[in-house]
Amino acid sequence: MDYETIRKPPVNAHAVRPNLDDYAGTRSAFDYERVIDGLDGLPGGGLNIAHESLDRHVAAGSGDKTCVLWEGKDGRSETYTYADMAKLSNQFANVLRNLGVEKGSRVFVFMDRTPELYAAAFGTLKAGCIIGPLFSAFGPDAIRDRLENSEAAVLVTTPQLKEKVYEVRDDLPALKHLIIADHDASPEVADGELSWNALMADASDEFEIVATDPEDPAVMHYTSGTTGKPKGAVHVHKAVLGHYATGRFALDLHPEDIYWCTADPGWVTGTSYGMFAPFTNGVTSVIYEGGFSARAWYEVIEKYKVTVWYTAPTAIRMLMKAGDDVVKRHDLSTLRFIMSVGEPLNPEAVVWSEETLGLPFHDNWWQTETGSIMIANYAAQDIKPGSMGRPLPGIEPGIIDEEGNVVAPGEEGDLAVRPGWPSMFRTYWKNEELYDSKFRNGWYITGDRARMDEDGYYWFVGRSDDVINTAGHLVGPFEVESALMEHPAVAEAGVIGKPDEVAMEVVKAFVSLKEGYEPTPELRQELTRFARGKLGPGVAPREIDFIDSLPKTRSGKIMRRLLKARELGLEEGDTSTLEDD
Ligand code: PRX
Repeated sequence: MDYETIRKPPVNAHAVRPNLDDYAGTRSAFDYERVIDGLDGLPGGGLNIAHESLDRHVAAGSGDKTCVLWEGKDGRSETYTYADMAKLSNQFANVLRNLGVEKGSRVFVFMDRTPELYAAAFGTLKAGCIIGPLFSAFGPDAIRDRLENSEAAVLVTTPQLKEKVYEVRDDLPALKHLIIADHDASPEVADGELSWNALMADASDEFEIVATDPEDPAVMHYTSGTTGKPKGAVHVHKAVLGHYATGRFALDLHPEDIYWCTADPGWVTGTSYGMFAPFTNGVTSVIYEGGFSARAWYEVIEKYKVTVWYTAPTAIRMLMKAGDDVVKRHDLSTLRFIMSVGEPLNPEAVVWSEETLGLPFHDNWWQTETGSIMIANYAAQDIKPGSMGRPLPGIEPGIIDEEGNVVAPGEEGDLAVRPGWPSMFRTYWKNEELYDSKFRNGWYITGDRARMDEDGYYWFVGRSDDVINTAGHLVGPFEVESALMEHPAVAEAGVIGKPDEVAMEVVKAFVSLKEGYEPTPELRQELTRFARGKLGPGVAPREIDFIDSLPKTRSGKIMRRLLKARELGLEEGDTSTLEDD
C-alpha cells in the first residue's frame, strides 16, 4: 500500500520555527569545520566533549539552567543544573586523577541510568580518558568480551550488578579499579573494591580539563558484526561538532525544549543523543531510569512536559499495541517534534502517531560507526512514511554497486557515506584490518542495503550481512553461537534473526547435540537459561530448535542464510557450496 506524503507547514502548532528551514541553502553552504564557531574549544586548539556539553554553559552564565530532570525507578524526581553536572563530573575527573588513571585509559560504566553514570561519563572525558558504557542487562560473557578487548582500567558498577563482573574478573587483568556506586546509600564495599561515595567525598569539585586534541579518542561503543566478537568503534572529541549540529538540524532542539531520549547510554543513541547533542545545545533533558511501559512513558511526557521526544520503532509498536485509550488518559499536548531510530519505522506507525498524537514520527538513520545522524526527516519537510529521509548538511551518502559506483535513483545497492564527517569512527579498537575493510572506492560501507528515490529520499531495504536487529539492538550471530557451544550438550549452533511483528527480529538458534544428549523440552529450557546467564536477556536466543546437523559450506562455515530460508519457507537460493550430507 502507498502512503500519502505528510505535508509540513513552515511553522508548527507550537509556533516554533524549525532550525533547518532552508534545507537546500543550508546544505550547499554548510561546512562542518565552521561548527566550532558556535562552540568554545579549549585553549591552544584543543577540544573536549565535556567542556562543550557542560562547562561552556556555566562559563556563559547559564549554570543555573536545568540540565537533567531525573526520575528514578521508584518515581522519585531530582533536578540537576548545568553547574551541578559540571561539578559532579569535575569530582569524578579528580577521582580518576587521584587514582593515578592516565590519559587515554579506558573507563567503563556498567550501571542503570542514574546521575552517577552521567557524572562518570563526563568526568572521564574531562580527565582525557575514554568512556565505554555497558548496557546494564548484559550478562558476564558480554561484559568480559568488551572489558577484555578494551583493557579497561576502571569499571564503575553497582552493588546489584557487580556479581556479574566477578564471574569474569579473573579474565580481566587490566582492570585495576572496581568502583561501586549506589544512588541511594553509601554502598558497603568488599576487599578490592572502592566506594564511589567515599572517593567523591574526597574529590574537589574543581578541575582543569586535561588538554585533549580534537582527534583524541573519547568514546567507545561495542557493536556486533557477522563474525567474531563485538568490536569497539572509537570516536574522538571532534565528534562533538556532529552531536551539536545534528542536535540543531535533525532533533530541531531549541533552548526552551524539554527533551527525552529513551535510549540507554549502553548504546550509541544514549550517548550521542542522550547526552552530547542535548547538553551541547543547552536544553533540559529528561532521564528516566525505569523501563518500558506505555502508561509510565506517557506519564513521563505529561509530568515533565516533554516537547521533543526521540525513541525507537519497537517501543512505538508496543505503544500502538497498548491502544489509544491509554493515550487519551494523558495530556501529551506539549510534544511538538517526535523522532525514531534504530530499525525500520513502518509507515503504519507514522500514520498512527499522526492520528493519535497529532504528530508524525520522524524516522532517521545512522549507526554506531557514523556517531551521529546521517539521514533524517526534518521538522520543516514533508515526510514520506516509510522513508528514512534525506542527508544531513555536510553528509554525502550514496547507493553504490560492488565496484563502488553510484547506481541510478530507484535502484537498490549498498548504502555508503563519503568519509570525513567529524563524528565518524576512527577505528575499531585493536582491529585496524576490519576498519580498513569497510571502505570501497572512497566510500565507507555501512552494511545496509537501501534505495534513493528521485526526490533524494532514502529507503531502507535490509542488512547485507547476517547481523540481527532485535528491538533496535544489533546482535552478532557468532557471539550467540559461541555462548551456546560452551554448553556440554551442544555440538554445533547456528543463529539467525527471525522476523517478528514487534521487535523486527528475534534471535533464533538451531542446535545440534553431542552423542548421548536427547532433544528434550527440559534441555531446551536449560540452554535458554544458560545463554541468558552468559549474554543477558536481550542477546540470548528467544527460540531454540534442535536439528540433527547444521547446513555447512564445504569449508565448514555454517550457512545461516539457508537456515533462515528454511525457517521462513523461502527459496534456498544458491546451495552449490553446500557440504554433501
Ligand atoms: O541496519 C541499520 C539499523 O541499525 C543499524 C545501526 O545500529 P547501531 O550501530 O546499533 O546504531 C544504533 C544507532 C542508530 C543500521 O546499520 N537502523 C538504524 N536506523 C535505522 C535502521 N534501519 C532502518 N531504518 C532506520 N531508521
